[in-house]
Amino acid sequence: MKRIILPKSGIYSGSLILVNRAYGYKEQREEAALLPVWEQEPEILMQRRAAALLYHLIGKINGWQGIALVSGWRSGKEQEEIWESSLKENGREFTETYVAYPGHSEHQTGLAIDLGQKQEAIDFIRPAFPDTGICGVFRQKAAEYGFIERYPRGREEVTGIGHEPWHFRYVGIPHARIMEREKLTLEEYIEFLRAFPYGRKPCHFSEGGQEFQISFLEMPDSEKAAKEGGRKNGGRENGGEESSMEIEVDDSHPYWISGNNRDGFVITQERSRHGY
Ligand code: DAL
Ligand code: ZN
Repeated sequence: MKRIILPKSGIYSGSLILVNRAYGYKEQREEAALLPVWEQEPEILMQRRAAALLYHLIGKINGWQGIALVSGWRSGKEQEEIWESSLKENGREFTETYVAYPGHSEHQTGLAIDLGQKQEAIDFIRPAFPDTGICGVFRQKAAEYGFIERYPRGREEVTGIGHEPWHFRYVGIPHARIMEREKLTLEEYIEFLRAFPYGRKPCHFSEGGQEFQISFLEMPDSEKAAKEGGRKNGGRENGGEESSMEIEVDDSHPYWISGNNRDGFVITQERSRHGY
């Protein structure tokens, strides 16, 4: 077992952060942490792991002829510009349906990508990404590589965003597969994991010879801070020490930890049948 310290500021980063109308993006990611997904489109950036897996997936399905990278990481300023220009061109109702409020876009995290079917004119806000052909193949394979279709049809009330078949979000493995299997949006998955408190009752998932245990660790009193702007002082409230939690993890297996951007951490452990 290994003791690790989880600082409160860690709640606002990681591949499972929930960024939506209620929970803004607090971590200001340095551009240095981003990479182009494809060397032929150097301005389309994502967080490193998401970029690498997306590149790998499109290559695997032989998709570069048919799939265009439309929009990846956006700065807060870019999101603001998109919001403002859409308000002018398309009006408020359209904009609120298809553009996240500045400060509340997953694109600011570097974990989201808009994809379009390659064609002469590609709409920047609503690119076509059908269920057929190579786009359909991508959609079928996405979860295997850790990506989810973030704004599904019929779940607009939950996500607060219209149906966006072009917008994919990296959440990682095995989370994307569980969400796909259980038909959960990220809002619902973050809620679902609360039933598996760390150190008591993990959620078990196994597939293809791999086994995972997932659990949730709540950080008391952090939700109020998250709603009020969270990491304003680099996680330190009123200039005081940043609060943190100490936990023990079984480090005989690989594990990784993500904040939920709200009130705690999701801890994922791989449990190989054969051990390490
Ligand atoms: N189109 C998505 C909701 C965004 O602007 O982040
Ligand atoms: Zn998008």
